[in-house]
Order: sequence, then C-alpha cells, then structure tokens
Amino acid sequence: MNLFYLRVNIQEAISLVFEFLWTLIKVNYEILRGIWKMIVPPEPKDVSNEIVLITGTGHGIGREMALRFARLGATIICVDINATTNEETANLIKQEKGKAHTYQCDVTNRAAVMQLAEKVTREVGDVSILVNNAGIMPCKPLLEQTEQEIKLLNDININANLWTLQAFLPSMMARNHGHIVAMSSMAGMMGIRNLVPYCGSKYAVRGIMEALAVELWDDPKDYKGIKLTTICPYMVDTGLCKKPRIRFENLMKLVAPGEAADMIVDAVRRDVIETSIPPELHYSIRYIHNLLPFRAAYVWNTFLNTGVDAHED
Ligand SMILES: NC(=O)c1ccc[n+]([C@@H]2O[C@H](COP(=O)([O-])OP(=O)(O)OC[C@H]3O[C@@H](n4cnc5c(N)ncnc54)[C@H](O)[C@@H]3O)[C@@H](O)[C@H]2O)c1
Ligand SMILES: *[C@@H]1O[C@H](CO)[C@@H](O)[C@H](O)[C@H]1NC(C)=O
Repeated sequence: MNLFYLRVNIQEAISLVFEFLWTLIKVNYEILRGIWKMIVPPEPKDVSNEIVLITGTGHGIGREMALRFARLGATIICVDINATTNEETANLIKQEKGKAHTYQCDVTNRAAVMQLAEKVTREVGDVSILVNNAGIMPCKPLLEQTEQEIKLLNDININANLWTLQAFLPSMMARNHGHIVAMSSMAGMMGIRNLVPYCGSKYAVRGIMEALAVELWDDPKDYKGIKLTTICPYMVDTGLCKKPRIRFENLMKLVAPGEAADMIVDAVRRDVIETSIPPELHYSIRYIHNLLPFRAAYVWNTFLNTGVDAHED
C-alpha cells in the first residue's frame, strides 16, 4: 500500500478513537447529570411572565393545570371544544384574581387551530408554554371499536399535537424561548387490554416528543431555549377511566386530578423531559418493566392485574 494512504488512514483511525472516547465521556457526563438531577432537582422556574395555552381545560387535569399555572401568575389561554365548561374554568381562575382567556376550538381541525394561533397572538400575545392535554379514551376490545371512534381518537390524541405544534412552534423558535408539554400515559409505556387504539396513540405522543427533541437539538440554530416535557400519568380520577381495575389498591391508588396537576406543573417548572404521575412509576416501568423479556413483563402484569375494564359510553 502507498505510504501516503497509510498515513491518512492512521490519522483517521486516531481521530475516530478520540471522537469515540470523547463521546463516551459525554454520555457518562449526561448519565451522572441525570442521576444528580434526580437527587437534587433544579429550582422550579418562574412562569409569571408566561402565556400558557392548555387544550382540554373544560374538565379534569386540564382545568386543574390551568388553575395552578394561573396561581403562579401566568396568563392562561383556555382551549376546549366545550365552551360552557371552558368558561367555568376561566371563571374559577378569575375568582382567584388570575388571568384567563377562553377560546372554543376543536383541536382536531387544523384550520381552526391555525386560526386560534393567529387570534391568540393578536389578542393576548405569543404563547410560550403549550400544553397538549385534550384526549379521549374509549375502553373496549379492539373489535368492538368503530372506524369512526378510532379515527376520532387518533385525531384528538395524536394529530392535534402536531397541529398545535405547527401553529405555536414558529414563534417559540423565533424567540428561542418556550415549553411544549404533552400528555402521554402509562398506556404509552406498556400495552393494556381494552385500550389497543389508545395505547397506540399514547405511544405516538412519546414518539412525537422524542423526535421533536432530536429535531430541535440537532438544528444548527440550537433551540436549547425550547423545553419539552412528556407526562405519563397512571390513573387519574377525572372520569376518563370509567372502570378502573386495581388489584393492590393501597399500593396503586387513583390519583386526584388536583394532585396530578400539582405534579405536572412542578415537572414543567423543573424542565423534566419525561415523567409519570406518580413519578416512581416512571422508573419502575422504564428501568425494570421495559428491560424484562416480553413474556416475563406480561406475567408480572398479570399478577399486578391493573388496567381498565370495558364499558359502554
Ligand atoms: N385520567 C386519567 O386517568 C389519565 C391517565 C393517563 C393519561 N391521561 C391523559 O390526560 C389528558 C387529560 O385527561 P383527563 O382525564 O383530564 O380528561 P377529561 O375527559 O377529564 O377532559 C378532557 C377535556 O378535553 C376536551 N376535549 C375533548 N376533545 C376535544 C377536542 N376535539 N378539542 C378540544 N378539546 C377537547 C374535553 O371537552 C374535556 O374538557 C388526556 O390526554 C388523557 O389521555 C389521563
Ligand atoms: C359541555 O359539557 C357539559 C358537562 O359535561 C355537558 O352537559 C354539555 O352538553 C357539553 N356541551 C357541549 C356543547 O358538548
């Protein structure tokens, strides 16, 4: 072989070895940083100057999050398809002297979401925290779910996330400032019977958020000012879970909506990338359940016997 090429190859090999070692150092640094943040969480950030848009504020976790962000001084944009219940939420906020604006919007309608963004920006200002919370959960065996039900589920639980991102990301990118929050579920981390389409939609939410993080971090403009948080709640007592089935009720209680909202707002303020409600669950699913062989995880789940039973609407 020609000596010149040999030298080039050796140089390349050396530089590859160095790059590999440097990558190892950085990976380990991030692991230690992750563990450190678990032990000593960062101080919660001030949100009093933020404009927080939450979808599905008419009921449940969405309403409770709206109340809590308002108590922290943020301006709340309440978005729901149900104008009546949405107005109630805004009134609750105003009774506490908080700042709230209501917009009726069906988040499955992309044109309506674009219009909403235009209107909110003009009437209130640039949304800096977007909380994609609206969701539905039909509970029955797959073969009993109609085409219409399944399409609606995917439109609300998956596609609405994409429409609001397309509507509200541009102004966050322009200012390199913002926070996107998405509601996945425990059903987005493990399969649960009677929830086949729902599980698919909640896995999709995690996929969307992970890919979005990569796209923003990879961008040469380096959008580190835009934070992402994905929440995977276990069962929250909002009525969404109509027939919860929990074998060990003392160990795995239903969480109250207010309590869930407290934990979500706290996770957002500490820039947590992904967590569960309650947070312990995230570690047990990610670091124990998901590492088990598929059938072993199934045996374990059968013992825990936690999920939802089928019901008519
Ligand atoms: N409750 C739980 O046990 C639980 C567990 C895991 C994840 N989650 C997720 O948390 C989120 C909130 O759940 P929740 O229990 O508070 O629900 P909820 O049913 O109490 O409230 C959902 C709200 O979304 C609104 N909404 C529905 N379709 C809409 C549309 N097309 N456009 C605009 N608004 C719409 C509804 O009017 C309602 O006010 C959902 O994404 C859900 O999947 C809930
Ligand atoms: C809004 O929600 C309330 C309470 O659940 C319900 O009674 C009402 O029919 C809903 N309105 C619409 C337009 O869906």
